[in-house]
Amino acid sequence: MLKDRYGRRLRYLRVSVTDRCNFRCLYCSRDFSEWLPREDILSLEEIREVVAAAVSLGVERVRLTGGEPLVRRDFPHLVRMLSEIPGLRDLSLTTNGYRLAELARELKQAGLHRVNLSLDTLKAERFRELTGVDGLSRVLSGLEAALSVGLHPVKVNMVVMRGVNEDEILEMARLSLSEPLEVRFIEFMPVGPGVSWEEERFLPLAEIMERVRELGPLEEVPSQGGGPARVFRLPGARGRVGFIAAISRHFCDRCNRLRLTAEGRLRLCLFSEEEFDLRPYLGRGPEVLREALLEAVRRKPFGKELSGKRRRPMRAIGG
Ligand code: GTP
Ligand code: 5AD
Ligand code: SF4
Repeated sequence: MLKDRYGRRLRYLRVSVTDRCNFRCLYCSRDFSEWLPREDILSLEEIREVVAAAVSLGVERVRLTGGEPLVRRDFPHLVRMLSEIPGLRDLSLTTNGYRLAELARELKQAGLHRVNLSLDTLKAERFRELTGVDGLSRVLSGLEAALSVGLHPVKVNMVVMRGVNEDEILEMARLSLSEPLEVRFIEFMPVGPGVSWEEERFLPLAEIMERVRELGPLEEVPSQGGGPARVFRLPGARGRVGFIAAISRHFCDRCNRLRLTAEGRLRLCLFSEEEFDLRPYLGRGPEVLREALLEAVRRKPFGKELSGKRRRPMRAIGG
């Protein structure tokens, strides 16, 4: 079993399958920095090897992230390989949705369980400004495709920024009234060198929740995910609304996750630079890799130990 020094059980692995992305989001990689060289990226087989070892140590949920996972060639094949690992009860994807309409059915057939989709605005022109790509209608088709092929529960992530998209909070929340979706509001985080961070863009979650309450009282319901979101239902809604307070409320005590970077390093915490390189332990059998994972998680930090440096962009550590 994977347990750290603080007794936290690690059951959730986020796997970055590539650091590449077809978008340039304002809060992620606007100030574009270099891609990792292709030869440094783990092969699909190496990813499978790490995931299988982690699952054999009690990891139950795996989320595939990026960069943008759907730009990786043979991504559906990776999903197929991972879905065949016994003991993995939740296999999910976080995507920007640009290629989802064409891939949703194939991914469902390959064994993907569910999708979280990033969507920060419903206005086409603003979408282009925020992501650098004129792609809103494609992303909305991707969302429809995810719902129609049954990649449930489908969640929509909105990073809320003051003066940028805060005026769309209610409209996004309303999506949860008519659609069987979970619309999640995320605090803007100053993570990584690519982020176009300005203090005044930060909008605390308490304020976001206050605005959503204009649509009615929020009834808290159990979260179906393994992540840090708190989830609520608006009166009469088909779907739900969720809130992720990454800054104003830390959740280190309940943290259950590890991250695998695209080049094979185990990242122990989103806010710490500490990483453990798994590469030297690959291809040497499951026992060697299990030992390395056990050693790595002993180093997982707790809030107060974190350093202030943030050198890596979000897309390199999987969001
Ligand atoms: P599920 O709850 O299992 O559906 O997934 P998730 O919410 O963990 O995944 P998703 O990729 O949709 O992430 C949503 C947001 O939560 C992103 O902005 C992440 O950066 C943030 N997030 C995910 N994990 C952590 C974490 O360990 N710490 C912090 N502070 N934020 C996280
Ligand atoms: N602050 C908050 N959320 C972010 N994401 C990416 N960068 C940031 C940031 N600086 C979100 C994306 C995606 C998820 C994986 O991480 O919107 O939904
Ligand atoms: Fe790409 Fe996601 Fe970063 Fe946007 S937030 S640039 S979609 S990795």
